[in-house]
Amino acid sequence: MQTIIHTKNLQKNYQSGNREVKVINGINVEIYKGDFTIIMGSSGSGKSTLLYLLSGLEPPSSGEIWMNKNAIHNIDEKTMTKLRREVIGFVFQDFNLVPNLTFLENILIPAYLVNNDRKALQSKAKALMEKMGISELMDRLPSEVSGGEQQRCSMARAVINDPTIIMADEPTGNLNSNSSQSVLNILSELYQDGQSIIMVTHDIKSAIRGNRIIFIRDGQVEDDLRFENDTPLAAKEEQLLKWLAGKNW
Ligand SMILES: Nc1ncnc2c1ncn2[C@@H]1O[C@H](COP(=O)(O)OP(=O)(O)O)[C@@H](O)[C@H]1O
Ligand SMILES: [Mg+2]
Repeated sequence: MQTIIHTKNLQKNYQSGNREVKVINGINVEIYKGDFTIIMGSSGSGKSTLLYLLSGLEPPSSGEIWMNKNAIHNIDEKTMTKLRREVIGFVFQDFNLVPNLTFLENILIPAYLVNNDRKALQSKAKALMEKMGISELMDRLPSEVSGGEQQRCSMARAVINDPTIIMADEPTGNLNSNSSQSVLNILSELYQDGQSIIMVTHDIKSAIRGNRIIFIRDGQVEDDLRFENDTPLAAKEEQLLKWLAGKNW
């Protein structure tokens, strides 16, 4: 298996009043190419913080994060921003679309920042909208459509630069169950096509879309589960529930 991200004794502290809280407390983890890695753990266990560190959106307090050959714990902000645009597609729980730009424009922004061929990018964006089932919504503003449609737009935005990895923080957390299923179906399809993905979730039905589960507790990796290839969803669910039951989930 090819490692695309790894960490060494990763730590992140936050100041809470005059007390320092260790939110990420010595994580050593490897993320492999082609995996759909899931990060689970109870609320406040440090899942989002870990994802923000892995994406370079937050700097660590100490320790190392390597993205391929890049030491992102040691990189200036400008270089990090450029690298992030090129290698990471981030999907947020609350979509984070630019409110006064249309769907098409939202998808094109990160693409224009790394590539000048506007014509090619426009057709690529339109093809992605087709794939996400939102091609009718090209000229809409985010406020004019549903949450599920906004999240599908943000997924098109996340993949337009052919990122090394997609990182998603509870991407279905603000969606009803129909919209959640369509977002999860898209992620599953991307994974089937070979896209590496990391997703934070506390939802079993979302987690079983992945092939590896990392369980976080108190800022540390407590356990790591890998499903055998081609395990059906129902069997994964049963296996995951058993595994979590041993953790007072
Ligand atoms: N910017 C911040 N400042 C201070 N504390 C924070 C900050 N971000 C997260 N925390 C704290 O870190 C802990 C873990 O947060 P988070 O990573 O969001 O957990 P999770 O995503 O697993 O629910 C929580 O106790 C949270 O209050
Ligand atoms: Mg979170």
